[in-house]
Amino acid sequence: MPARYEEAFRKIAGKYRHTAVLAAQNNMIPYKSEKGRWISSPHDGNSWWTGGFWPALMWQFYASAADPFFMEEARRAEGLLTAEFRAFTHLNHDVGFMYLLSVGADAKLTGDPQAHTDTLHAASLLMGRLNPAGFIRAWNGPDQAGYAIIDCMMNLSLLYWASRQTGDPRFARAAGLHADTALREFIRPDGSVSHIIEFDPQTGKRLREHPGQGYALGSSWSRGQAWGLYGFTLAWLNTGDPRYLSAARRIADYFCAHIRPDGLTDCDFCQPEDEERIDNIAGAIAACGLMELSKAAGVPAYEASALRLVDGLLDCCEWSGDRCGVLTRCTASYHDDGAGQHTNIVYGDYFLVEALAKLSGTDPMLWL
Ligand code: GLY
Repeated sequence: MPARYEEAFRKIAGKYRHTAVLAAQNNMIPYKSEKGRWISSPHDGNSWWTGGFWPALMWQFYASAADPFFMEEARRAEGLLTAEFRAFTHLNHDVGFMYLLSVGADAKLTGDPQAHTDTLHAASLLMGRLNPAGFIRAWNGPDQAGYAIIDCMMNLSLLYWASRQTGDPRFARAAGLHADTALREFIRPDGSVSHIIEFDPQTGKRLREHPGQGYALGSSWSRGQAWGLYGFTLAWLNTGDPRYLSAARRIADYFCAHIRPDGLTDCDFCQPEDEERIDNIAGAIAACGLMELSKAAGVPAYEASALRLVDGLLDCCEWSGDRCGVLTRCTASYHDDGAGQHTNIVYGDYFLVEALAKLSGTDPMLWL
């Protein structure tokens, strides 16, 4: 593998070794950087769904070089995240993202018993969101009892993990119910996926699709496509069910056909041609998913597409050592929701680092 990927990983780790100190000094979990400085989440404080990506970055760096600074910084953030168990009301299905990549990573890499217990706690919270009519409830709003979203495919790994750890099949059964519903209801004939589907919470009957973070109702929000691509790949890796592998391949084929000539990713694959809206986070997630899918399916073309994406991302990096954050041109939502457009957002950095770690042979595969 070309040395530039290892070199990029080392440079990013070096930047984080320097700039993470600023987050620690303020006891915050960075969400993004603005004018070169860390900013915490614009919504819901430490309950915001992205909090786990900061410790996840630290664990990626720790897995590569065992620098105790990164372990300490991950554990500082884990303390803030596990305090949210007691606040509870803001937590939603994204406890998968929040805790599998933080305390779950800690348990995986260090065997810490409290981290293991905290990860099981998070899995039980996710399990508590199962509607036996066939889906995991995404959010908490009074009118959202029937909402399920494609992003949740990534959270299912926490449930599969819990079944492996405890020998209790309930967690995996819950994950399977949701994955089967997503397989049936979210994937469109052309391989694109819907973002939000509302079901009748009593019967599980599909009611309607809602517009989400993409361009419009029925369009193809690229990060949603990436969550589906990587999420179904993980469902395959967790279960060996060939239906999930085939779903991942259909979504991947659709995604790969939409990678721009410069290797970047439009925020929505149906956005107007004259509107330049990039979401590099989607490209970074898809690169990770495509590398795993390439191995799982034995299809080298997926790896080649992943490399096109990574090369595009490396052209969009902020390398100045004093400025916080690395990957630029990240967009939280097509229609600005205040969470950031064409800027650095920490989970973009996380997936870029995960992709580079895969290419460098150091990825601890925190999702399994
Ligand atoms: N899971 C929410 C998002 O991707 O923005």
